Amino acid sequence: MGVEIKVDDLSKSFGKDLIWANVSLTIPAGEVSVMLGPSGTGKSVFLKTLIGLLKPNTGSIVIEGLDIASCSEKELYEIRKLFGVLFQDGAMFGSMTLYDNVAFPLREHTKKSESDIRSVVMEKMELVGLVGAEGKLPGEISGGMRKRAGLARALVLDPEIVLFDEPDSGLDPVRTSFLNQLIIDLNAQIDATFLIVTHDINTARTVPDNIGLLYHKHLAMFGPREMLLSSEEPVVRQFLNAQRVGPIGMSEEKDADELESEKDIEMPPLPPIPMQQEPSNGIPRRSQREPGAWCREHGITPPPGSFEENMPMATGA
Ligand SMILES: Nc1ncnc2c1ncn2[C@@H]1O[C@H](COP(=O)(O)OP(=O)(O)O)[C@@H](O)[C@H]1O
Ligand SMILES: [Mg+2]
Repeated sequence: MGVEIKVDDLSKSFGKDLIWANVSLTIPAGEVSVMLGPSGTGKSVFLKTLIGLLKPNTGSIVIEGLDIASCSEKELYEIRKLFGVLFQDGAMFGSMTLYDNVAFPLREHTKKSESDIRSVVMEKMELVGLVGAEGKLPGEISGGMRKRAGLARALVLDPEIVLFDEPDSGLDPVRTSFLNQLIIDLNAQIDATFLIVTHDINTARTVPDNIGLLYHKHLAMFGPREMLLSSEEPVVRQFLNAQRVGPIGMSEEKDADELESEKDIEMPPLPPIPMQQEPSNGIPRRSQREPGAWCREHGITPPPGSFEENMPMATGA
């Protein structure tokens, strides 16, 4: 069913360098959440903090009653078994076949026999569509296949939480779209809590149940997809719609002169909210909601044209 992750007042610095502070959010059990943010805002640092690879300076991360930020190494070792992680580059061992890469966590963390290992590995290879490629080395396959192999490995211990670090980085739009479909299908099938870190706006607009935006050393907003896609908050609106007008500049925040020169330029209207990507077998995910449900419940009129079938996946101006 997946487990909830409750993050409260988290902050992280490296020496004098503050990465982010006051990050508080609850990642709901079994749902798909996306954490968006410009490059360098500390998205990967956030994921590594969630699994206890990095220690936060303040705050707590509570999973099943245990605070990852303050627990013992032994407790951390146990709680890590709940996680499957797909690292940015797939993080495969280059000299091992895909089979051995995927089998690695089972050999490390379980006492399963080689024949039991074989059946788990093959089941996960099938889930990600890689049957037949077990004997290949990571260097012999495409980037998209490497990500899928990394995903098979992340699933091998039947995680309650799956973290994805930029699953779409380095993939072309078609492969990204296939991988996103695979993520949705997997969520429907295994019901774990998914957190996807990305800077891809199309992925954020169409895949998740919830969206968070890390910006300028804090969490600008976190909530249901429809809440962020209908938000008038300037940073959220600018980022999710890939617009140039707004507080975000080429590198960081725009300076006073730049903002002054834009003050009479209106932000373009919000583009329609697209339908959420659905499982390919047509059976709704457990956490899937009716299109427009959040807007209706909150008395928000979605932008014209929202939730129409076959709408182009436009991201605004
Ligand atoms: N282990 C580390 N030691 C020092 N600085 C780090 C470390 N890991 C990341 N950083 C810094 O933290 C910032 C955020 O990095 P990262 O989380 O990789 O950004 P993102 O994933 O959003 O692109 C960067 O400035 C990076 O240099
Ligand atoms: Mg990163």
